[in-house]
Amino acid sequence: MTKAMEILKSLTLEEKASLTSGKDCWRTVDVEGKLESIMMSDGPHGLRKEEDGRTVPATCFPSSSTVANSWDENLIYKIGEALGEECLANNVQVILGPGVNIKRSPLCGRNFEYFSEDPLLATKMASGHIRGVQSKGVGACIKHFAANNQETDRFSVNAVIDERTLREIYLSSFEEAVKEAKPWMIMSAYNKLNGDYCSENKYLLTDVLRDNWGYEGVVVSDWGAANEPVNGVKAGLDIRMPGPVPSADAAIVEAVKSGKLSMEELDKNVLRIIELVEKGVKGRIENYKTDMSAHNELAMKAAEESAVLLKNNNNFLPLGKSDKIALIGAFAEEIRYQGGGSSCVNATEVSNLLQAFDDKNIDYTYARGFKTEDDSIDDNLVLEAIAIAEKSDKIIMCMGLPFRMESEGFDRWTMSLPQNQIELFSKLAKLGKPIVIVLFQGSPVEMEWSENADSILAMYTGGQSVAKACVNLLFGDAVPCGKLSETWALKLENNPIALSFPEKGTATYSEGVYVGYRYYDKKKLDVMYPFGYGLSYTTFEYSDIKLSASEISECDSLEVSFKVKNTGSVAGKEICELYVEPTYPSVSRPVRELKGFKKISLDPGEEKTITMTLNKRSFAFYDVETHDWQVDTTVYKILVGASSRDLPLMASVKVNSSRTNKTFFTTDSRVYELNANPISKEALNKLLTEDLKLDISALSIDLPLSKLVGFSGGILSVDMLDRFVSELNKKIQ
Ligand code: BGC
Repeated sequence: MTKAMEILKSLTLEEKASLTSGKDCWRTVDVEGKLESIMMSDGPHGLRKEEDGRTVPATCFPSSSTVANSWDENLIYKIGEALGEECLANNVQVILGPGVNIKRSPLCGRNFEYFSEDPLLATKMASGHIRGVQSKGVGACIKHFAANNQETDRFSVNAVIDERTLREIYLSSFEEAVKEAKPWMIMSAYNKLNGDYCSENKYLLTDVLRDNWGYEGVVVSDWGAANEPVNGVKAGLDIRMPGPVPSADAAIVEAVKSGKLSMEELDKNVLRIIELVEKGVKGRIENYKTDMSAHNELAMKAAEESAVLLKNNNNFLPLGKSDKIALIGAFAEEIRYQGGGSSCVNATEVSNLLQAFDDKNIDYTYARGFKTEDDSIDDNLVLEAIAIAEKSDKIIMCMGLPFRMESEGFDRWTMSLPQNQIELFSKLAKLGKPIVIVLFQGSPVEMEWSENADSILAMYTGGQSVAKACVNLLFGDAVPCGKLSETWALKLENNPIALSFPEKGTATYSEGVYVGYRYYDKKKLDVMYPFGYGLSYTTFEYSDIKLSASEISECDSLEVSFKVKNTGSVAGKEICELYVEPTYPSVSRPVRELKGFKKISLDPGEEKTITMTLNKRSFAFYDVETHDWQVDTTVYKILVGASSRDLPLMASVKVNSSRTNKTFFTTDSRVYELNANPISKEALNKLLTEDLKLDISALSIDLPLSKLVGFSGGILSVDMLDRFVSELNKKIQ
C-alpha cells in the first residue's frame, strides 16, 4: 500500500471532507499528525506570494502573450525553472499558471496572460512552462479549464460551444500540455460551459480530463468558482479555493452519510489531494537560495527573444549609437511591463528606457508627449515633444496601452491606442524625420494610422527588464527574432465576433473553429500583421522541401525536411512554421492550420536542414459522429515558411484513412455538397447529363439528391439512387 493510501485509510469522514476546501486563501488543509498543508501562489509570469499583507518581491518575467512570440519551448522551460526556484525560496509548493486559454477576441482583458489564438502554439508553450517549473519539485497549475475567453460576466457567463470547436480549439490548447507535461494541478474556470459551471462539469473534469486524457493530478477551483459542493466532488473537482468553507465540508459529510455520495467517490478525490501534498512536501528545501540576478538577466533575454519587429523600411533599424535621438512618449519613463490583476508581480527591479539609454551612454533628449492617466491631449506636452523632435535626426516614439486598459476583471472596450498618442504621432510624422514606434502592450492594437513610421518594434508586456532588452534591439546589440502568436487585424470590425463580444449571460461561439488566422484566411481578409509574422535584421531563404513519402496511411508518421539559409549579414534566429492544408475535406475546415514549428540560429551564410514530424493528429479533425479524431482520405498540402501568409515551400502527401464506415454522402446530400469535391462532382455530372439527360444549369444547388427521383421523368428509381450514393462513397474513401 502506498503512503498516500495509508494516510487515506487513517482519515475520518470529517477529515476527508475538510480536505476538499482550502485552509485559507492560499493553503490546503492539514490534518494533525497525518498530513501537512502546502501553499499555492499566483503565477503565471512571476511569483505573487502574499505574506503579512504584502506581496513578496519576485522576478517579473515577460507575460505569456509576450513569451509566446518567442515560439521557444526551451526559453519558457528556463523561465519555468526560475519560477520553480523562486517558489522553493519562498516555500510555495504550487504556482498558479500557465494560463492557456485561446484568444477568441483581441479584446479579452486577460489576453496578456494567455499564449495564442492557436492551440498548438499555446499547448507547446504551456508544456515547456510546466516542465520547467516541475523540474524543480514544485507544481504548476494550468488554467482556466475551460473556455474562459472573456472577463465580462466572467463568474457566470455560459460559453456555448459545439463539440468539434471545443475539441479542436478550446480544449486542444490544454490537451498536449496536460498529457505530456502532467501538471500537478489544473484550475477549473469561473464560467459555465454548455450549461454547467466548469467546477461542476462532469464532461470537462471527468469524461475529457481523466477518462480521455488520463489526467491523474488535482483539479482546483478558480478562486470562488466552486458552487454546489457535492456536485463538484461528483464531477471531479478536488479542492475548492479559497477556504475554509465549513458548510461545504458539512454538506459532503452529510451526502456520504445519506448515500448521495459514495465513500469511494470521495476517496478518489481525497487520495489525489494527499498525493499532491506529498509531492509538495517532498519538494521543499529548507533555506533555499536562488540567484535573483540571473533571473533578472533571463527576464531580459526573454524580452529580447520575444519582441516582434513589425516594420523596418529600408533597414532603418538598428539605430547608430551616435544618432541624435529624440525619445518621445510617456512609456519611455513609465515603462509598461505587465498587466493588472492576480498575475501582477512585485518586481525585484524595474528600469525604464531613460535609465537603459544612460546605462549604455547613448545620448537622447526626452519628452513625455502625452498623458497615460486619460486620453486627453495636453498641449504643453505636445509642444515640448515637437520642440525636441525638431532638433533631432531621428525620433523614437514609445506608444502603447496604459496599465488601466489591460487587466483581469474587465475586457478592453476598443482595439485602438488612446487618441492622444495617435495624434501626437501624426504631428511628429509631419516633421518628415525618420521615426520608429516602440509599442508596449499585452495584445494587438489597430495600426492603420502608422503608415508614416519607418520601423515598428512591438515589445508587448516584456517583464521587468524590458527596457534594457528594447535598447539592445534598437541599437543592434540584439537581433529581433520574435513572431506574432496572434493575428493583428486591420480593425476590430474585421474580427469574427466583433458584433457580439462580449456577451453577458450566454456567449455563443457561433464562429466555430474559425478563430484568429483560421477565420481571416477562410474569409481571405487582409490583415495588418498575420499570425506567425515578424522581421529580423537579417534575411532567410527557404528551399528544398522533401517528404519521407508521397502517400501514407493515417497511422504512419511523415517526415518533412527543408533548408533555411541566412542570406543577410548578421547572425539571427528564424522561426520556421509548417502548416497543413487538406484539399477536399469532408467537413468545413480552416484553409490551413499550424502543425509544426522550430526556432533555429543561423550565422551569416549558414544553412541548416530542418526536419519536422507529422502524425495522424496533424491531419485530423474532431468527428462528432464517432466522438474521436478522424482523418479524411485526401491529398494534404504541406506548406512551410516564415509566417501564416508567407509560405514559399509546398509539397503534397496523400493520407489514407483507416476509417471504413465514414459516409460522405447520403440521399439527403445537397448538390452543392457534391460539387465541392471533384470526384463527386464528376459523378453527379455524369448522372445528370448522361443518364438522366437533365439540364444541370436549371438545377438548384440546394436540391437534395432524393428529389432527383421526382425530376427524372421516371428514369431514376430510389434503388438506383441508393446504389449511386453507395458507389460514390466507396470511390471517395
Ligand atoms: C484568477 C486566477 C488566480 C486566482 C488566485 C482568480 O481571480 O482568475 O487566475 O489564480 O484568482 O489569485
